Amino acid sequence: MDFIELAKHRYSSRKYRAKAVETEKLKIVLEAGRIAPSANNQQPWIFVVIKEENLENLQACYPRDWFRSAPMAIVLCADHSKSWKRKDGKDHADIDVAIAADHMTLAATSINLATCWICNFDKEKLIKTINLPRQYEPVVILSLGYPEDEPNLERHDTKRKELVEIVYYETLKPL
Ligand SMILES: Cc1cc2nc3c(=O)[nH]c(=O)nc-3n(C[C@H](O)[C@H](O)[C@H](O)COP(=O)(O)O)c2cc1C
Repeated sequence: MDFIELAKHRYSSRKYRAKAVETEKLKIVLEAGRIAPSANNQQPWIFVVIKEENLENLQACYPRDWFRSAPMAIVLCADHSKSWKRKDGKDHADIDVAIAADHMTLAATSINLATCWICNFDKEKLIKTINLPRQYEPVVILSLGYPEDEPNLERHDTKRKELVEIVYYETLKPL
């Protein structure tokens, strides 16, 4: 599969089979996050894997029926004490964590697993659920598992903007 094909196969799966994710496959997904690039190589992240006794508590942080079908999830947290800040103060932690998450979703896709980004969670509840020290911020929960649903591989034709709407060359002003 070339890159565009892989990226099109990645989709937000909201229905999972009960089958557990093998440890070897989980390691591949985590490794994809580990090797992601980050601003000044600060790697300002931790990845919290939840698949056993804390799974129900995690599901309560994002109470949707579909999320209960996920056999596991990874919570990606930003470490604001480590992230690179530009001279004007911009903190790059969220960008770095998003790149790690994207690496993970694509790695999962490449081994026939599916994911869904979840950011609409109850933040304070999640902090308590995973016992997260205050220097960290939970940025995204990634559900992970074998999908019961399938991607619509044509959706990018209608559900994404056209390049002409979003790409500019050299400047936004007419040259
Ligand atoms: C930063 C981010 C946050 C998201 N948060 C949620 C969420 O809380 N719940 C959810 O069901 N989907 C969430 N999604 C999934 C998006 O709705 C989905 O990626 C988008 O509609 C495109 O569909 P696709 O992923 O199937 O290509 C999120 C995606 C991103 C990138």
